[in-house]
Amino acid sequence: MSAKIIDGRACASSIREEVADHVVRLKVGQAITPGLAVVLVGEDPASEVYVRNKSRQTVEVGMNSFEHKLPAETSEGELVALIGQLNTDPAVHGILVQLPLPDHFDSDFVIGAIDPTKDVDGFHVSNVGLLWTGQKALVPCTPLGCLILLRYQLGDLSGLNAVVVGRSNIVGKPMAQLLLADNCTVTLAHSRTRDLAAVCRSAEILVVAVGRPQMIPGDWVRPGATVIDVGINRIVAPNGVGKPRLVGDVNFPSAFEIAGAITPVPGGVGPMTIACLLANTVTACCRVNGLPEPEGLTACRPERRVARG
Ligand code: GUN
Repeated sequence: MSAKIIDGRACASSIREEVADHVVRLKVGQAITPGLAVVLVGEDPASEVYVRNKSRQTVEVGMNSFEHKLPAETSEGELVALIGQLNTDPAVHGILVQLPLPDHFDSDFVIGAIDPTKDVDGFHVSNVGLLWTGQKALVPCTPLGCLILLRYQLGDLSGLNAVVVGRSNIVGKPMAQLLLADNCTVTLAHSRTRDLAAVCRSAEILVVAVGRPQMIPGDWVRPGATVIDVGINRIVAPNGVGKPRLVGDVNFPSAFEIAGAITPVPGGVGPMTIACLLANTVTACCRVNGLPEPEGLTACRPERRVARG
């Protein structure tokens, strides 16, 4: 039997609706308009597309968008000075510095300059530490989106065997922590993992974030498993003819025949990332103003589900 397709576009759309409702409440009830500042350094075409989409969707849900495009030659000091201004600007509730930065930047240093209460990417070490200790954090958007899709598909994740392939700071590591906080038994696999095929076959939940097109074949998927494919890879046909197309890190046609449910590429995890960014911005705005956070948007946050033992 073939898998159920998990519709990330529909799920992202309902998150955006909830964000937009909450933004109206903040504007009407509190005279506050949440604002998101996005900083792009250089001219990486893929990053330019992401930043444009983020800014457009920010405005569509009624928030203020502040876009800062800096030339590739910008110095680290200039970038940190801009972040300092955004940190103290009361109209800015969320700050995102698009990664990757050009090579002459130390990304950890730059991210460390962001006020953790405005760090809507959840990359600042304060938020990483809060997440890993089960406290109130701002949670990285892509893994948060994956968790929401998993909870939507499976309900309670307690006791399930989850395998995350890929150990990046942006996806793999926070994903593992979110699944652990949801009481899964988690394996964090990576390029040095021995017998990755067998590890993947043990997974009732398989999350793949390696950035290698179609690396996971269908016969590595446990029958009935829920597969979340984070990869977005542009490939050309082997004969070089035709338009490039997007594929994930999982071989979709073969995995589709074996999995119980699977996210497509495009239309799976991708739309969830920006929806969660908007949700994080509203959350940051509410927290800094001492206002209640939107209930539906916080239902998936890990600090709500900390279990002992
Ligand atoms: N580049 C790729 N994904 C992300 C993300 O989630 N946040 C930022 N800031 N940069 C990225």
